[in-house]
Amino acid sequence: MKIGIPREIRPGENRVAISPEAIKKLTGMGVEVVVEAGCGTGSCVTDQEYQEAGASVAPDAAAALGDADLVFKVQRPMTVEEGTDEIALMKEGAILVGHLATLSNPNASPSYNARNLTTFAMDLMPRISRAQSMDVLSSQSNLAGYKAVVDAATEHVSAFPMMMTAAGTVAPARVFIMGVGVAGLQAIATAKRLGAVVTAYDVRPATREQVESLGGKFLIVDEKAMKDAETAGGYAKEMTEEYKQKERQVLADHVKDQDIVITTALIPGRPAPVLVTREMVESMKPGSVIVDLAVETGGNCECAERGIVAEHQGVRIIGYDNMPARLARDASNLFAKNILNFLTPHIDAENGALNLDWEDETIAETVVTRDGEVVNARIKELMS
Ligand code: NAI
Repeated sequence: MKIGIPREIRPGENRVAISPEAIKKLTGMGVEVVVEAGCGTGSCVTDQEYQEAGASVAPDAAAALGDADLVFKVQRPMTVEEGTDEIALMKEGAILVGHLATLSNPNASPSYNARNLTTFAMDLMPRISRAQSMDVLSSQSNLAGYKAVVDAATEHVSAFPMMMTAAGTVAPARVFIMGVGVAGLQAIATAKRLGAVVTAYDVRPATREQVESLGGKFLIVDEKAMKDAETAGGYAKEMTEEYKQKERQVLADHVKDQDIVITTALIPGRPAPVLVTREMVESMKPGSVIVDLAVETGGNCECAERGIVAEHQGVRIIGYDNMPARLARDASNLFAKNILNFLTPHIDAENGALNLDWEDETIAETVVTRDGEVVNARIKELMS
């Protein structure tokens, strides 16, 4: 079996879906790995490092993918409509594995059938304990949460830790984390390590204990409503209008006293909820910083602008796209490890052949297209 890895070509994408470590493991199982020349440039890994790990280097994407049985990608392939047809470069009937962003782009799914691709969307990985090591949403969000705090510290006009110096005392920064999933938890831990006073908020009740265990203080809106706020899969549910009204008031009162607000609230497959309104931004002191990690799905902050650091009445709002790509080396290493953990149980370590177990939940729930059809029930429902 041959695995091909192209250079990612979507703007700003510095990551790549392979690492030297993953190449060693795959070639050790008898799999052939071909990478496109320069695919590691964004994450500062040279072609030579991939070669030393056991891969061969192809001069361009067509050569890397043309006869690959399996293709690893970070981002959904670009299409003719987007200017470059990456799907056309793949071998008829190949298997594609990547973060296909299927919930936000369900209608891109039939395009894989043009090459009769079997596609696996890593973003649809079920949230079961066994699949934690395969979860690209977690591995990438964790890095995003860390980077959000570091970016906020860079933009902020004051220091994070309390400092008692001969010239006077520097007060610790007050940091508020909205949305305590994987990114939010890492943001809490990072802000605590930098010495900030950290509060956090989430609609899921389970997060309260997690916030407290990291030394943060949980902001309570309505104890009773919180009890019904989580789906069986562990994701947030859409809340009632009454709850939202109360929430707005409690959050507004809290946000005005914060130096840093980091928002990470997402609802899978839906636009991100607005948590920080324009008025709330205006209530903050000039020099405060907001980081909106949900900017790609509409944003949690009304003043965030995708891709830039916006400014509104002296408050800076960081709306960088694709935070994990700003830590491209770690992000690529973890992404590649997630794919490796996903596929290893299905690779015959004797001869490198792939024998997919279609009954396995991680396979059954992530498969999007197969035999020329969209087979994923969730995606079929979302397709218009
Ligand atoms: P996410 O990225 O989908 O959402 C981020 C956070 O925003 C969530 O905690 C969500 O509750 C919160 N949120 C949504 N709407 C909100 C609102 N209006 N106000 C405030 N907060 C709001 O979530 P993520 O990080 O992907 O994971 C959620 C949880 O799933 C994790 O904390 C974990 O418990 C579980 N999980 C389980 C895994 C496994 O077992 N394999 C892997 C990853 C996560």
